[in-house]
Amino acid sequence: MQKKSTLLPYHTSVKVWLLLIAILPTLFSGCGKTTRTPEASQQGYTSDKAMVVSAHPDASRIGLEILRKGGNAFDAAIATQFALAVAHPAAGNLGGGGFLVYRQSDGSVGSLDYREKAPGAATETMYQDAQGEVISELSLSGHLAAGVPGSVAGMYETHQKFGSLPWEELVQPSVDLARNGVVLTEKEANGLNSTRDRFIKHNKHLPYLAVKVWNPGDTLKHPDLARTLEHIRDKGRDGFYKGETADHIVKEMQRSNGIITHQDLEKYTAEWRQPITGKYKDYKVISMGPPSSGGVALMQLLTMIEPYNISKYGWQSPETIHLMAEAERRVYADRAAYLGDPDFVKVPVEQLLDQEYLKDRMKSVSLEKATASAEIKEGVLPVYESEQTTHLSIVDAAGNAVSVTTTLNGSYGSKVIVEGAGFLLNNEMDDFSAKPGVPNMYGLVGGKANAIAPGKRMLSAMTPTILEKDGKLFMVVGTPGGSTIITSVYQTILNVIEHNMTMQQAVAAPRFHHQWLPDAIQHEPKAINPEVRTQLQNKGHKLMERSTYGRVDVILVLPNGKLEGGADPRGDDTAMGY
Ligand code: DON
Repeated sequence: MQKKSTLLPYHTSVKVWLLLIAILPTLFSGCGKTTRTPEASQQGYTSDKAMVVSAHPDASRIGLEILRKGGNAFDAAIATQFALAVAHPAAGNLGGGGFLVYRQSDGSVGSLDYREKAPGAATETMYQDAQGEVISELSLSGHLAAGVPGSVAGMYETHQKFGSLPWEELVQPSVDLARNGVVLTEKEANGLNSTRDRFIKHNKHLPYLAVKVWNPGDTLKHPDLARTLEHIRDKGRDGFYKGETADHIVKEMQRSNGIITHQDLEKYTAEWRQPITGKYKDYKVISMGPPSSGGVALMQLLTMIEPYNISKYGWQSPETIHLMAEAERRVYADRAAYLGDPDFVKVPVEQLLDQEYLKDRMKSVSLEKATASAEIKEGVLPVYESEQTTHLSIVDAAGNAVSVTTTLNGSYGSKVIVEGAGFLLNNEMDDFSAKPGVPNMYGLVGGKANAIAPGKRMLSAMTPTILEKDGKLFMVVGTPGGSTIITSVYQTILNVIEHNMTMQQAVAAPRFHHQWLPDAIQHEPKAINPEVRTQLQNKGHKLMERSTYGRVDVILVLPNGKLEGGADPRGDDTAMGY
């Protein structure tokens, strides 16, 4: 059952799409470069009791030290998030936001929303010119692109509820890391160098990240960031949202066209929310609900594919890719129409996850022929009243699991570094729909549900997820990658459950992605072999090769109780444990 879209005509030309696909790699410069086939790596790093997998070795090390000291998975997640803000500034952050999903050893689950919010002075048309044309540069870079940051409030709230070690002990390692400096990996040096011109363009001062061309092996010190972290260490959330740090942020806004005020900062709160839970075969899935679309979309995708024997069809076979892509285009059409901040719009979660609805949604799928995305609209929901990211997975010795995805949005966010405070601000405002039907930087379209409003949270695709099997912890998973996050998590789960891959193989395996619009299967090099490509084209699919994306970081509980890490070889991602 389908209905006519409420979105404006989809008027963006093919040329714009091609351009978008072409520039994606630079937007994701923090998101990795190499691909390995699943055969290239076997089992990942394993440990007996506890593990941290994150995007940077220094961050994983700091998280592990907290676990060894007796800290729990929440303590380690806090320490790792702060360490990523120092060691992986493309995505780790103080000036961004994120989501945390947990499962405690007693089976209780929950999630924390520390997504950024639109400032109080934001308006629905703030990124449109007088003719109503979207000026996308404004939501992508510079001061006006930033939402009110949520990360420090999120970490502080996590500690208030679940922390076991003193807050200061969780922040101090990052103060030390910032002060002593981080030895740059090749990927970190490349990321900074390729953004250098934009750092210079969007800051009135010469930002410390751009003072020179960096080489791998150079030590990058962050003295201002060290001081900001000390304020946070000593005053908790007030060390960021009030006092000197808040003054720096507001002064930075006033240097250009920024609109974040003291009041916006003081008013910011992180929210505990019900996670999305559902079943795929014998597995219980726990994931992030709105304002992320991740959990709803992942659960829809898993439910839609469950009736098909994709393990028999085989990994990356034409049948498997076709069916998954058909489900994906339908799910992303729903996302564009229905998903937004639940504090502002009624999000019909139950209806979107209804088994009958999802069965009905797949009825129009032919095994022989691709459906044109132009023919797909969001589904009709019977009782609905209209009205550069990084991931870390942690399991502690007691079996508590924490899955965190956190972001500045694009690589190095808005490129604005708060003078005197040493951290980057996000460009998360681009995740709103600047105008119905006009794609954002990930090519995602949206409508009223995700329109800008003061204090509203922009829709996300981040999908921090935990799986249980037979009542026991099974997997902790998540990734960056903008619109591709949902499908990367989806494929990683199926790679293990349906295609019997080890955790490391499942993470390394090349991926594909369909997001309804543009109407194409986007895929990494080597994800689809030439013969399968022809068969998919014969069914009517368009294929678009793009550079690699995502950095999936996962922990799998093996049948013998040990932990296997899946650390994405596309980045510097590292699993460490004991
Ligand atoms: O919340 C979202 O969906 C996006 N802001 C995530 C951005 C992202 O994953 C960039 N990473 N490579």
